[in-house]
Amino acid sequence: MPDRSITGNEIILEPHDTIQSRTDTRGVINFANATMVRISGYSREELIGAPHSILRHPHMPRGVFYAMWQIISAGDEFFGFVNNRSKSGDNYWVFTRVAPRMDAAGEITAYSSVRVRPRRDAVAEWSRIYADILAVEQALPRDEQVAAGYQALLRFLKKRGFGNLTDCVMKYV
Ligand SMILES: Cc1cc2nc3c(=O)[nH]c(=O)nc-3n(C[C@H](O)[C@H](O)[C@H](O)COP(=O)(O)O)c2cc1C
Repeated sequence: MPDRSITGNEIILEPHDTIQSRTDTRGVINFANATMVRISGYSREELIGAPHSILRHPHMPRGVFYAMWQIISAGDEFFGFVNNRSKSGDNYWVFTRVAPRMDAAGEITAYSSVRVRPRRDAVAEWSRIYADILAVEQALPRDEQVAAGYQALLRFLKKRGFGNLTDCVMKYV
């Protein structure tokens, strides 16, 4: 069945486009720069106060975001390729860094993210990787998808000889 929420039209970032956002500790957006407003198609008012999943594309496996939250909530930086959905249903691929912000005591107070244009060979490769993980997730009931997708991601990394996601992602930067 076609997914009417997506157009299939890809917006390709320009080399100088830098999309920035910040969230609270739950992932609720509290800052979006002008480039994020322009490319996402949402107004600043629509973005501020919305969960960051407002941009989640249905082709992105849930297990990948689980991996992201594991990394950032442990205090580390996440690097990855993400396919986002704009308000119109167009999609745009980004290379993303999401990092925790900490107070003097080392407590996480917020998260910030920066996204730039990814290499096209990275988009081709990560589209395939995510499609395989998504197929694993979609064969299961909703409450089993995240764990199964995360395990599928770990199996993929192991098969390729990587000890962690960041090392694998950095091959495509
Ligand atoms: C700073 C920050 C930036 C994020 N950026 C994105 C993003 O660009 N696209 C996206 O789909 N999810 C992003 N997320 C992850 C979302 O919070 C969410 O986990 C994800 O969209 C999956 O949605 P779900 O948890 O409802 O399944 C970001 C999270 C944080 C903390």
